[in-house]
Amino acid sequence: MNARTVCAFGLLAVSVMPWGSGWANDGTPGSVERGRYLVTIGNCVGCHTARFIALDGKVPEDTWFTGSPLGFRSQTGTTYAPNLRLYFQELSEDAWVAVARTAPYRRPMPGWSLRVMTDDDLLAVYRYIRSMGPKGDRAPDFLPPGQEPPRPYIELPTPPSQ
Ligand code: HEC
Repeated sequence: MNARTVCAFGLLAVSVMPWGSGWANDGTPGSVERGRYLVTIGNCVGCHTARFIALDGKVPEDTWFTGSPLGFRSQTGTTYAPNLRLYFQELSEDAWVAVARTAPYRRPMPGWSLRVMTDDDLLAVYRYIRSMGPKGDRAPDFLPPGQEPPRPYIELPTPPSQ
C-alpha cells in the first residue's frame, strides 16, 4: 500500500464516521444541535438557568435558559443572568453576531468566550436557544453598587482579586 492509497483510506474513514457522538454535535456548522452542544460545554446553561448548578444539571431541558434569580454581587453592583429565551426572540441573527462580540458584559459573564466564537458557532447558539421558544419571566434587573440585593446572591471578591 503506497502513501497515496493510505491517504485515500483515511479520507474515506473520515467521511463515513459521524462527526461527533449522538446528540452532542451533528457537525453541521451553525446547526441547532451544534448550538446545544456549545451551550452545554460552555456552561452557558449553568448560569442562565435557575438551580442548574445546584442540581448538577438535572433540570428539564424545556426550562433551560429561562434566566436566574441568583445575584452576583460585587463593588460594581449586582448582576443577574438574563432569560435568554426572551432575549433571543427580540434580536436578529446579524444583530446577535455584532452584539455578542461588543457588549460590555459585567462580571461574571464570560464575554471572553463569546468574543472568540466563530460566526457559525455564535449562530448555532442563537438558533438553538431561539428554537426553544419564549418561556418564563425576565430575570431581575441589574442593581447599582450600594443597593442591597435580595437573597440569594453570591458575593464576588472586592477588590477583584480573582
Ligand atoms: C458565570 C455565569 C455565566 C456564564 C457561564 C454565562 N453567563 Fe451570560 N450572563 C451572566 C450574567 C450575570 C449576565 C448579566 C451581565 C450584565 O449584567 O452585564 C449575563 C449576560 C448574558 C447576555 C446578555 C448580554 C447583553 O447584551 O445584555 C447574553 C446574551 C449571555 N449572557 C449569553 C451567554 C452565553 C452564550 C454563554 C455561554 C458561552 C454565557 N452567557 C455564559 C452569567 C453567565
